[in-house]
Amino acid sequence: MDSNKRPETMARITTKELADAFIEEQVKAVREQVGDKKVLLALSGGVDSSVVAALLIKAIGKQLVCVHVNHGLMRKGESENVIEVFRNGLDANLVYVDATDRFLGKLENVSDPEQKRKIIGAEFINVFDEEAAKLDGISFLAQGTIYPDILESIKQAEGKKAVKSHHNVGGLPEEMEMQLVEPIKLLFKDEVRVVGEALGLPHAMVYRQPFPGPGLGVRCLGAITRDRLHALREADAILREEFDLNGLAEKVWQYFVVVPDLKSVGVKDDSRYEGWSAIIRAVNTTDAMTATIEEIPYSVLRKVTARITSEVDGINRVLYDITPKPTGTIEWE
Ligand code: XMP
Repeated sequence: MDSNKRPETMARITTKELADAFIEEQVKAVREQVGDKKVLLALSGGVDSSVVAALLIKAIGKQLVCVHVNHGLMRKGESENVIEVFRNGLDANLVYVDATDRFLGKLENVSDPEQKRKIIGAEFINVFDEEAAKLDGISFLAQGTIYPDILESIKQAEGKKAVKSHHNVGGLPEEMEMQLVEPIKLLFKDEVRVVGEALGLPHAMVYRQPFPGPGLGVRCLGAITRDRLHALREADAILREEFDLNGLAEKVWQYFVVVPDLKSVGVKDDSRYEGWSAIIRAVNTTDAMTATIEEIPYSVLRKVTARITSEVDGINRVLYDITPKPTGTIEWE
């Protein structure tokens, strides 16, 4: 039987009971596969890698070594949250690597989006490899592969062309000779979430909106600078907070801020104040191939604008992008 093909008889996991049964089955399978050996996992904090981590912690505890690489392009509070949930909450064997300076160094003066993606993807593998080399006796590599990833790679093998290279920094270092552990590879995203909740992961982590592998790197447009990246991170945190407060977080598929490398003239405290513009993007989609614009209430837009322009240094305007996909892609780069 092709282990990458979902059996037609496999029931869709929609309830806690079905999730519990799936978890029990996978815990047994992982223990059988791994024995007393160690397993390595790149834990980004995204839904898939988080669910795999929680599942493997349940199955093999400290035999799982999680490596969380902070590439300096995470959203505000994200790495701290990974540490809180996994190291403090689930007592995980977690290696935290702050590689911000390495990534930002390599990205200095690089403005081409695909080049930025390539650098971030390659540097991620370098950092991850270096960390893996420091660890003794790792025999397996766990991955948060899910069923749409398998379907997507079949499509790519058939030669369909992509608009962007979509580097996912959780990708597998190909030269590593380790066997794979992929406990959720036959699940669809909605099932992964049900399993995540059944494993006790926080709701916000399990229902986290999609976040690209290159992170804020493709939202700090053009050549990334630390000050503009900082402004973007703060503005994005305000948008997310206001979406949460106004019940939009679970209504909108993806929402974020983009900051282009462009300044406009503004005024603050009666003086000329040149600043960047923060652009709000909020879209709905089912498959990310096309997207529609979510109509954000004017009161929310006004509040977000007031907060960003008063709380974030360097930003003097807020714009709202109402372009669907096509013609705009969801991200600006
Ligand atoms: P676009 O911008 O192509 O985005 O309309 C579609 C979806 O893909 C995400 N995206 C990425 N995800 N690595 C990722 O893992 C990437 O390089 C990347 N670029 C875009 C984007 O956030 C949206 O959800």
